[in-house]
Amino acid sequence: MERTNARYAITMDASGTSRAGEVILSDGTAVVIRPIRPEDEPLMAPFHAGLSMRSVYQRYFHLSSLEQRIAHSRLSLTCRVDPATGLAIVADRVTADGAHEVLALGRLTRTEPGAAEIALLVMDRWQGRGLGRAMMRALVAHARALGVHRLHGDMLADNDAMRAVVRRAGFAVQPVPGDAAVLRAERLLD
Ligand SMILES: CC(C)(COP(=O)(O)OP(=O)(O)OC[C@H]1O[C@@H](n2cnc3c(N)ncnc32)[C@H](O)[C@@H]1OP(=O)(O)O)[C@@H](O)C(=O)NCCC(=O)NCCS
Repeated sequence: MERTNARYAITMDASGTSRAGEVILSDGTAVVIRPIRPEDEPLMAPFHAGLSMRSVYQRYFHLSSLEQRIAHSRLSLTCRVDPATGLAIVADRVTADGAHEVLALGRLTRTEPGAAEIALLVMDRWQGRGLGRAMMRALVAHARALGVHRLHGDMLADNDAMRAVVRRAGFAVQPVPGDAAVLRAERLLD
């Protein structure tokens, strides 16, 4: 099992499907970071219910109600990402009674050939335990495996946690011309 400060390695099985990576958070919780799958849809409503409006705004740059976020039409798309457009990963914890709980969601969305946008969302109760950092490492590893050479993402300028995550992952952070409220992070992959 990997510690949150270890590298996240992606291995491919015979069908080319990315396998999961295991990490241990700073509080000792073990989570599996893996691609999202259609069967995860029932787990996404509790995940969204565990998000504060602040986290929702920081992720989407606008507010949306829990009802809107957990609509079947939306969640079914979240859980069935077209590989041509990108991928989504989740952090999956197994609770004491054996149930699965999604603690975080990460996205890689292809924007142009060789480039992809990254986005992260960690359930509020699980923030500050190294999960954002581990999810970012996983997204970078998936991006490499997919042949992505440039990663980019926007964040609100006062989002100190995301600024720390991207800086630690080697992204350069620049202001967005004409929008003082937003910063753009970018990293070229070897
Ligand atoms: C941003 C986010 C993904 C970070 O995830 P996290 O699990 O809380 O972050 P981690 O525990 O991995 O911490 C990562 C770094 O941020 C720092 N950090 C965490 N919370 C912080 C805060 N509130 N203020 C300042 N720094 C903070 C940590 O100290 C750590 O820094 P280090 O690597 O230098 O030690 C999470 O807070 C989140 O989902 N926020 C809402 C959605 C969002 O903002 N998404 C980003 C735009 S797409």
